[in-house]
Amino acid sequence: MEERWLQTLIDGLHSRYAGVHKGEVANYIPELGKASPDHFGMAIATSDGKVFETGNSDTLFTLQSVSKPFAFGMALEAFGEEKVARHVGVEPSGDSFNSIELEKVTNRPFNPMVNAGAITVTALLYQKYGDQALDRILTRLSAAAGRNLGIDEEVYHSESKTGHRNRAIAYLLLNFDMVPEEVEPALDLYFKQCSILVNTRDLAIMSATLCNLGKNPVTGEEVFDLDAVRNMLSIMFTCGMYDYSGEWAYRVGVPAKSGVSGAVMAVVNRQLGIASYSPRLDAKGNSCRGINVCTDLAQELGLHTF
Ligand code: DON
Repeated sequence: MEERWLQTLIDGLHSRYAGVHKGEVANYIPELGKASPDHFGMAIATSDGKVFETGNSDTLFTLQSVSKPFAFGMALEAFGEEKVARHVGVEPSGDSFNSIELEKVTNRPFNPMVNAGAITVTALLYQKYGDQALDRILTRLSAAAGRNLGIDEEVYHSESKTGHRNRAIAYLLLNFDMVPEEVEPALDLYFKQCSILVNTRDLAIMSATLCNLGKNPVTGEEVFDLDAVRNMLSIMFTCGMYDYSGEWAYRVGVPAKSGVSGAVMAVVNRQLGIASYSPRLDAKGNSCRGINVCTDLAQELGLHTF
């Protein structure tokens, strides 16, 4: 019963928005500009391991910023809250994802969801794991998705070649001792982490791993500590949609994370992992269809936290 009901719901939302052609595909990373603006996939995974999908749910795309909460969770587990807090804050920046602004007194990036904070987190992981760091990240994200993930070499090279703004941010962070000396390999790791390939179904399962208190509900594998999950979801709630985070919390009311590839992952605590992929973005870098379907789902299923 539940099966048909949810399937019908996402099929209906898919057809409601497939014909809406608002937003532009990101092209500041040239390789991302090749994505089809018409691709549109949705998937939902439940905390008891059922998966529903519709549209282009098999189409692969790169995680981009959706990798950030997962890397943050890994850093929290590896270093503990106190050490991580010395390098990155937990306040919404109210600014765009690629802002070069840092906190006034501490010189920390505002939070781990904006590029500056995510580069800091990844630099910490690089400092700890060195050349093993990419494998560590891939292994952990693969456990969250329930299958082996790899990276998109073209997207990685494309961003590595053109990511001058992120390079500038990283060197500013070095200036304030927020990241260790080895800036270039840390940036390289960040670009690779952003280029991890998933499909919408994978993303729904990764999201459901967070909704299920860190345990992948499909494979049964424990992927993240409960404390890390609580911190990841808190930051996603306040900062996950960049300078749309306040409006998202108001209208949708669940933790979420977007990426410039067009991915959106929303987490309904203890219930559902929701994922959407559609590369048409609004001016803030969030997927237009992703925002629409999550807003409608929240309304129709009463998902808002309050
Ligand atoms: O660092 C960048 O600019 C990209 N690799 C990721 C940015 C991103 O996904 C922002 N999302 N809306």
